[in-house]
Amino acid sequence: KPYQIAVITGSLRADSINRKLASAIARLAPGDFSFTQLVIGDLPLYNQDDDADPSPAVKRLKGEILAASGLIFVTPEYNRGIPGVLKNAIDHASRPYGESAWAGKPAGVLGASVGVIGTAVAQQQLRTILAYLDVPTLGQPEAFIHVGEGFFDEGGEIASAGTRKFLQKWMDSYVAWVKKHAA
Ligand code: FNR
Repeated sequence: KPYQIAVITGSLRADSINRKLASAIARLAPGDFSFTQLVIGDLPLYNQDDDADPSPAVKRLKGEILAASGLIFVTPEYNRGIPGVLKNAIDHASRPYGESAWAGKPAGVLGASVGVIGTAVAQQQLRTILAYLDVPTLGQPEAFIHVGEGFFDEGGEIASAGTRKFLQKWMDSYVAWVKKHAA
């Protein structure tokens, strides 16, 4: 497929609502888009001493990012910030200096939380980091997803028609964003 999107989820939890959201939104994309969930749970803790000899997991991550036409970050909020595992992955792929894998990749940001502000603080923090890394990030619509009881149905689909419609609009905007940057 012409548009390969790398999906980075900021939770390692088996039953992660953010991973479920990432899977659900991928199904809202057109047929010329494909999605791969990147693995970040096997990365070592970032240590600048290792820049000259990065681990295979780091090389794999950077290769997957470089090969992608776009990025989608789907992250929880931990203590009003982004989870350490996500920051660790971002830092790894940004180094060595001058060899960042991130620069120029069009991105979208979403997040799901059991709390009512739906990861707004973490997403703002993520946007600051992505701006520094020269990652053009879709501004609107913002997607602060509050996940209560029954948000996902048994098949993992988004139960509410209104929320599905909103996320469809998000995906349509993201698709246009990726195509604009590819052109
Ligand atoms: C949380 N949670 C949380 N929620 C929120 O809206 N704002 C926050 O600052 C925090 N802080 C926080 C810290 C830590 C260490 C944990 C484990 C959790 C709750 C969080 O939204 C909830 O656990 C989600 O289910 C996490 O997302 P995943 O893992 O289900 O994708």
